[in-house]
Amino acid sequence: MTEKALLEVENLQQYFPIKGGFLGRTVNHVKAVDDVTFNIREGETVSVVGESGCGKSTTGRAILRLDEPTNGKVTFRGQDVLSLSKNEMRKMRSEMQIIFQDPYASLNPRKTVKQTLIEAMEIQKIGKNGKERVQRAIELMETVGLQEHQINRFPHEFSGGQRQRIGIARALAVNPKLIICDEAVSALDVSIQAQVLNLLQRLQKEIGLTYLFIAHDLGVVRHISDRIIVMYLGKIVEMGDTKSIFENPQHPYTKALLSAIPVPDPKMKKERIFLRGDVPSPIDPPAGCRFHTRCPFATEKCQTETPALEAKDTVFEGKHDVACHYALDIQSGKHEATHEMKDVRKVLDDAGEEAAASKEDFQSTK
Ligand SMILES: Nc1ncnc2c1ncn2[C@@H]1O[C@H](COP(=O)(O)OP(=O)(O)OP(=O)(O)O)[C@@H](O)[C@H]1O
Ligand code: SF4
Ligand SMILES: [Mg+2]
Repeated sequence: MTEKALLEVENLQQYFPIKGGFLGRTVNHVKAVDDVTFNIREGETVSVVGESGCGKSTTGRAILRLDEPTNGKVTFRGQDVLSLSKNEMRKMRSEMQIIFQDPYASLNPRKTVKQTLIEAMEIQKIGKNGKERVQRAIELMETVGLQEHQINRFPHEFSGGQRQRIGIARALAVNPKLIICDEAVSALDVSIQAQVLNLLQRLQKEIGLTYLFIAHDLGVVRHISDRIIVMYLGKIVEMGDTKSIFENPQHPYTKALLSAIPVPDPKMKKERIFLRGDVPSPIDPPAGCRFHTRCPFATEKCQTETPALEAKDTVFEGKHDVACHYALDIQSGKHEATHEMKDVRKVLDDAGEEAAASKEDFQSTK
């Protein structure tokens, strides 16, 4: 990994208009991503995590301009992505690829693997002629752990894990530098998930790829990420090195997400933090700290003042930013929960409760 930023995202904003009324005017906006800033160094894996609807995919799509961002700046290898013409953007897409959760939906069911891979190369003018492209398609099959004799098969003739490998081969066909993996392993069985994650890690070492990994499960990204970004309702609430996020989480939301990861040994005691209520609407997000409606530590200040995302961590200094007015005071015990903690926390010390809890998704106890 180098210190050079491959991708820089500054103050990214994505507001989707909501049309209504007789004239179909814009009556409001879904504030899906609001003022998001981060960068990714060459060779790094950065993961974006958070509950459903927090703006993870929108961030990935805005970087690639699959949806035009409302505001902000995206710089890739020093180039201002948002000012590129359509033609320049098409060329740039060969360097920035995306892999989706459901490869079946993103693969053309009427095209064989060979046709799919060759088409991707043709669009980006990769390979001198048909023969060279076929040869490269065979090599790509081998790279992702598929066999040459499967090259004339259609997507429905493969398993979910194999289809995801085809999706990876298609992304690799155009020699990308950055791959955005949007829930790329979420739909797969745990053992297949591990195989695909291993493949992605191997490719990173061999080809020097950089990943933006989008997932709702912190447990999945732990072993592959250099850094983790935690999003809540369109904003980054915490961002830091993986070790720092796992060993020294600062934001109450991150702590709740971490407490929901099932522990391998059911006899181990684990304190699970249950968040009250649902995620508020991104059409009218709460003022101040967007998390205040669910945060056990919220005060009046949290309802009006937006906390800045800044380094507060004294243990892993400079490698960890958090957006919470009371991060350090919560850590030191100076700032206590404002609701009865027993309403929102529970010590899970028996296997039955632990198993039940792992099935829930950070839901309300009430
Ligand atoms: N094209 C669109 N038009 C209007 N609203 C949209 C559009 N795309 C996404 N949204 C809204 O923006 C918000 C963020 O969506 P996004 O898909 O980025 O969430 P996510 O974090 O990827 O969630 P998930 O984990 O469920 O994939 C959601 O409220 C979603 O409904
Ligand atoms: S700023 Fe307030 S509401 Fe937001 S996370 Fe910190 S304590 Fe909770
Ligand atoms: Mg998504």
